[in-house]
Amino acid sequence: MALNETGREKPRRAYEELRSYRWLGVKDLRAFGHRSRLMQMGYAKSDWAGKPVIGILNTWSDINPCHAHFKLRAEEVKRGIWQAGGFPLELPAISLSEPFVKPTTMLYRNLLAMEAEELIRSHPVDGLVLMGGCDKTTPGLIMAALSTNLPAIFMPAGPMLRGNWHGKPLGSGSDSWKYWAELKAGTITEREWEEVEEGIARSFGHCMTMGTASSMTAIAETMGFILPGGSSIPAADANHPRLATACGKRAVELVWEDLKPRDILTTGAVDNAIRVHMAMGGSTNAMVHVVAMARRAGLPFRLERFDVIAREVPVLADVRPSGRFLMEDFYYAGGLLGLQSQLAPLLDKACLTVNGKTLGQNIEAAKVYDEAIIRPLDKPVAREACAIIKGNLCPDGAVMKPSAADPRFFKHTGPALVFDDYNHMASLIDRDDLEVTPDHVLILRNAGPVGGPGMPEWGMLPLPTKLLKQGVRDMLRISDARMSGTSYGACILHVSPESAIGGPLALVQTGDLIRLDVEARTLDMLVDEAELTRRRLAWQPKPPPARGYEKMFAAHIRQAHEGCDFDYLEGAEAMVEPEIH
Ligand code: FES
Ligand code: MG
Repeated sequence: MALNETGREKPRRAYEELRSYRWLGVKDLRAFGHRSRLMQMGYAKSDWAGKPVIGILNTWSDINPCHAHFKLRAEEVKRGIWQAGGFPLELPAISLSEPFVKPTTMLYRNLLAMEAEELIRSHPVDGLVLMGGCDKTTPGLIMAALSTNLPAIFMPAGPMLRGNWHGKPLGSGSDSWKYWAELKAGTITEREWEEVEEGIARSFGHCMTMGTASSMTAIAETMGFILPGGSSIPAADANHPRLATACGKRAVELVWEDLKPRDILTTGAVDNAIRVHMAMGGSTNAMVHVVAMARRAGLPFRLERFDVIAREVPVLADVRPSGRFLMEDFYYAGGLLGLQSQLAPLLDKACLTVNGKTLGQNIEAAKVYDEAIIRPLDKPVAREACAIIKGNLCPDGAVMKPSAADPRFFKHTGPALVFDDYNHMASLIDRDDLEVTPDHVLILRNAGPVGGPGMPEWGMLPLPTKLLKQGVRDMLRISDARMSGTSYGACILHVSPESAIGGPLALVQTGDLIRLDVEARTLDMLVDEAELTRRRLAWQPKPPPARGYEKMFAAHIRQAHEGCDFDYLEGAEAMVEPEIH
C-alpha cells in the first residue's frame, strides 16, 4: 500500500469494489441492458470498462449569468476525467440563479441538495465533480456530497471581472444599493444610473464582492473541497479552464484513493472555514449554510461557535462591502492561499484536503503580493466580522455584521417602527408623512424560513426616503430575514425563533423601546413580562400553505440557528443504495 505525502494510506480500490460495477460490470441481464444503452449513445466498452464513473453535477442554466460558462467548463472537466482514465457523466441539477429565482433561492437550497443526493444515489456514479458558485449552489451541492459521502471535488464558478463606471470599479450588489440610494436622494441622474446598470456586470462568473458566493467558495476551499487557490481564480481567466480540467483529473484519483467528503469535513476543518470566513469579512448567509453542512457531516455544531471565532479572528481581506477592493484585486494580491498564509498561526494545519495534502502543506509556499488588500494580522480592516446576539427578542440567536455597520449603533436604544410584512413596509417606506427619526429601529417580521417563506434577503430594510433626503445612510434594522452578502448597514438578521412561528419578534409593537449592545451581544425589547404574556396569548399564526413544495417546506424546515435544513435530511446516516433489478 502506498503512502501519500501526508503519511496517509493511499489505498487503490479494485474495479469490482466501485458502485458503478453493479450497473456495468456484472454479467446479468440488467447489466447487459445498461451496457447496450451506453453503446446506443456511441460509447465503446473501452470508454467505461475498468474505469470510475464520475458524475458531473452541473448547475448551468440559460438564466444563470454566474454559471454561463459552465457548458464549456463541463467539457473541460470531462477532458480531465478522460485523461485520468475515468468515464464522465454530466448530470444537470437545478441552477438556482440568485438574481432571477423568486421568491428567493433559499427556498430551493434544500431542493437542490435533495435533487443532487437522489441524482447521485440513483445513477451509476463513483465520484463527483460539483459545479456551482452562485450563492446557494455551493452549500446545496456540498450538503448532497456529504450525505452520499462519495468522493467529491468542488469546481467553483469563479468571480466575474470588476465592474466599471467612468473608470471607477463597481461591485456586485453593494454598488447597486449605493447608487440606488444616491438616485433616490437626487445626487446622480437617471442617465448615470443607466450607465451603472450597463457596467456593473461585465463577464460570466459569480458576484465579485465578498457576497455569499465568494464567502461560500472560500469556505468550501478551506473545508478542503476545492483545489488549493481555486476559489479565487476569476471566471474569465485562462487559469479557470485549467482548474476545471484539474478537477476532472483529481476526481478520478479520489475514487481510487477512496477519499470521501466526511474524511475531509472534520470539526477542525469547520473551525478553519469559519476562521477564513471571518477573515474574509464574509456574508452572514454563510453562517446558515455552514451549520447545515456541519450537521450533514454529523458534527455537533452551535451558532455560538461563530461568535467565539469572530472575537479571535479579525477581518483581513479589504474587499467590499466591509472593505474597498473586489475579488479580482484579491486574486492578484495572492488570493485565498495568501489570506490563509496570513492567518496560518490561527489555523489547524493538519486538516486533510481534496488534493490529498494538508492545509498546512497547501499554504507552505503561499505569498501575499499586496498587503493593502490582504492584511497581516496586526493591521486588520476591522476587529470583528460577525457577532451572534441574544436577548428577549432573539432567544435562539441573531446575527450581525459589525464591520459593515455604522459604529454609532453598537450601543443604541430607540423606538420600534414595526412592519408586519414586506408589502406593509413597501407601502409606507417612501411616504413623506411616515413618523420616523434616525434613532428609530426599523423592524420587519414574517420574513423568516416559514414566514418569507424561505427567509428572503429582505434584511437590509430600505431606509425611509424622507430620511435619505436628509442625508441619513444607516439605521438600526431588525428582522428574521437574511441579507445579501453584498449588503451593508446596522442590520440584525436571522432572528430566531422567527415571528411566523410565534417567536418574540411577533410580539413587538411600534413605539416599544429596543436596546442593542453589540459589545455585550444583547438585543432586547424593553417591555415588561406581563405585557408580553398578554400579547403572546392574543397572537395567532397565519394559515400554512395549502399545497405543493411550499407546504412540505413549511412542515419540515428548521430554524436559522439550526441551518434551515429539512428535518428529514439532517444527520450522517449511510446512504441507502438502490436495488438494481
Ligand atoms: Fe450569482 Fe451573486 S448573483 S453569485
Ligand atoms: Mg447574493
